[in-house]
Amino acid sequence: MSSELALTASPPSPPPAATDGVWLACIGCGASLRPFDTVRYTCPHCDELLEVRYADRPGFEAFSGEGVWRYEPLLPVAEGISLAEGDTPLYEVPELAADVDVARLSVKHEGLNGTGSFKDRGMTVGVRVAKHLGVDRLGVASTGNTSAALAAYGARAGIETVVLLPAGNVAAGKLAQASLHGARILELDGNFDDCLAVVQTLAKNGDVYLLNSVNPFRLEGQKTIGFEILEEHRARTGTYPDRIVLPVGNAGNTAALYKGFRELVQAGALAPGDVPALTGVQANGAAPLVEAIEADRATIEGWPDVETIATAIRIGKPVNAPKALPGIYETGGTAVAVSDAEITRAQRDLAGAGIGVEPASATTLAGLRRLRAQGVVADDESVVCLTTGHLLKDPEAAAAAGTDPESVAAAPDAVLNHLDNE
Ligand code: F0G
Repeated sequence: MSSELALTASPPSPPPAATDGVWLACIGCGASLRPFDTVRYTCPHCDELLEVRYADRPGFEAFSGEGVWRYEPLLPVAEGISLAEGDTPLYEVPELAADVDVARLSVKHEGLNGTGSFKDRGMTVGVRVAKHLGVDRLGVASTGNTSAALAAYGARAGIETVVLLPAGNVAAGKLAQASLHGARILELDGNFDDCLAVVQTLAKNGDVYLLNSVNPFRLEGQKTIGFEILEEHRARTGTYPDRIVLPVGNAGNTAALYKGFRELVQAGALAPGDVPALTGVQANGAAPLVEAIEADRATIEGWPDVETIATAIRIGKPVNAPKALPGIYETGGTAVAVSDAEITRAQRDLAGAGIGVEPASATTLAGLRRLRAQGVVADDESVVCLTTGHLLKDPEAAAAAGTDPESVAAAPDAVLNHLDNE
């Protein structure tokens, strides 16, 4: 593992005057910006991504309470718009560990958040900031889960919500959620990357407050996934996991977990050598970040056309790549692409352990299997797979991967005959 965890992606950024200990820093030029005076998503000087900085970076002893807000000392605002997000289970799966041939395998199931994905963690923080800023319309582009979560948190906050979706490529459960929570759903004739470009223009012109993961406040909520994994794994085993395997779409989680770990390292609460290796997985048909890692590049080249059964990560231009790539390199991680058939097999395997996930989440087990077969992952590792969304998000994919219903006459004998004979 690299000892350079001192963070090439993050030039120093002293706090601007009167910031209450929280400010925004540009990851490119290091400019410091007051966080709540003006709505900003990128640096006004160089247009690079922003991240939230804290004057005080406490360690684990400062955390108390439940869920995402347990980590309030490392969040930019106080609790305000919450639906009890976080505190998701870390399941042990010894049979799958043996099958994949690693020392220990655990599954952090983010599908058990209220709206069925990790997005709730980002929205509880992001929508709280939106309320603080006094905006009157929230907006996102989404492959589905972000729109579902924003619709719920926007409803909770009483703020109008608009979601831009790629027509025909959003799973049924996600669409139903956005619909019932009352978002305006605009289906655009384009892919996710096209939708994001449109909503970014609307945001730049002040027509919506943008809650995609380019919003640095959202990622603050999502970094708590990493904190929970560390605390839970340590409570159970006395150590931290060697590796966290996660699906990559916009690379927001990869960036967020890396940032959270850096803060703990800077606080002296986590040794650089104890930071888990961040390992990203994409689908073969949408793998620009894997391509960059394989070529050892510091930037990605977007893919104009993308295709995969894992519609949640059907993304060709991961906007958080400038934050995520250093995280993968500096933690000694890697990235790998998997086929749709491998994804479906992994979805069945997880379901066979009682863990119901959507296809994007199953990429993690598929990717781990592949990296283990290649010898990139060693057999003595303790690995955590991050499953990001619930099975019911994409009922069609689940039904297609699962067993078919069988028609039987409504009589006990017919049922028994059928069970014995078919
Ligand atoms: N897994 C699921 C289930 C997702 O919905 C997403 C992203 C990801 C993984 C990728 O996470 O972007 O942090 O790398 N879904 C977004 C959406 C794009 O609109 O719901 P990332």
